[in-house]
Amino acid sequence: MRRSYLVLACSLILYANATKLHYAPSAEWPRVVKKDGSCPPVWTQVKAELNTLFMTGNQCNDLARAAIHATFHDCGSWDTTQKLTGGCDGSLVLGVTPDVELARSENKGLEAIAGKIKDLATKYGTSVADMVVFAGSAAIVLCPGGPKIQTFIGRKDSTTSAPSGGLPDVFDSASNLFNLFAKKGFSAQDLAALLGAHSTSTQKFVDPAQANKSQDSTPGQWDVTYYKETYSFATGGKKDPGVFVFASDSKLATSNEVGLEFQGFIGNQGRWAGSFASAMERMVLFGNDKSEMVDCNSALG
Ligand code: HEM
Ligand SMILES: *[C@@H]1O[C@H](CO)[C@@H](O)[C@H](O)[C@H]1NC(C)=O
Repeated sequence: MRRSYLVLACSLILYANATKLHYAPSAEWPRVVKKDGSCPPVWTQVKAELNTLFMTGNQCNDLARAAIHATFHDCGSWDTTQKLTGGCDGSLVLGVTPDVELARSENKGLEAIAGKIKDLATKYGTSVADMVVFAGSAAIVLCPGGPKIQTFIGRKDSTTSAPSGGLPDVFDSASNLFNLFAKKGFSAQDLAALLGAHSTSTQKFVDPAQANKSQDSTPGQWDVTYYKETYSFATGGKKDPGVFVFASDSKLATSNEVGLEFQGFIGNQGRWAGSFASAMERMVLFGNDKSEMVDCNSALG
């Protein structure tokens, strides 16, 4: 099995060198390309398409926030006991066993971006798992103010759905939420920084009567307004009628577990960007072996 794979990989490389092909439309390709260490040029084409898909004027749009959300839900269901299984494996889009992952209640609202990602993966000949993560990283860097998440390529797809219970419940307590993220290897600072993704988020299903309300007043931008406004809400300060603050965010903002770290990001875009990137770079490798992957940072622009 391994032996024939090696022979296949070697002949593909010889073939590619002989014909000066730069990529072949196959999910296995990134692992082959690793031999010369460079990012398959197809990702530059993907990024060009995402540049227009994810931006409306100079703001990142609904599809961009959905892509960031999808990355969290595919990768972030993982915990450290799963080691090199699960995590970023495309199961959010492809998982059918023992149940359809995308049909779970916590994944409501992700159907459209899941379909888009599947189409893009087919069009460009990539794995769905890589397309989920690359689209998420592209959305983050395209949202004004967003950092570049170091992004490697070479994930394999899985039709096995993530174990249930790996994603946070918006009505859970701060200590349960902290413990859930700790099982993924995240510190208090990591969790506080990751929550800042709600700087660009909106909600439809927590309170359908307030559908499309955002979690800060500037959802088209990747900024620390989220931290200021959430903390203000949590401490009885100014409430913006256009903003819907999640119960979980409000509790965590003043919690013993992550309150200080959360408040430390208020007015501090640079500190947040660095902390977010550090945590997210680990999340997008959940279930994967970085040494088997290629660095596609350059394709993010
Ligand atoms: C305690 C942790 C978290 C909780 C309880 C939580 C909960 C939620 C909920 C309830 C929604 C709204 C879904 C809807 O009704 O449409 C949402 C949206 C979103 N979340 Fe989180 N989340 C958490 C952490 C994260 C993390 C770590 C990220 C990414 C790094 C993230 C990214 C997003 C994004 C981008 C959206 C917006 C989706 C859209 O507008 O289409 N969340 N989250
Ligand atoms: C929310 O936005 C969607 C498009 O994403 C739109 O179809 C729907 O009508 C909006 N709902 C409200 C209550 O504004």
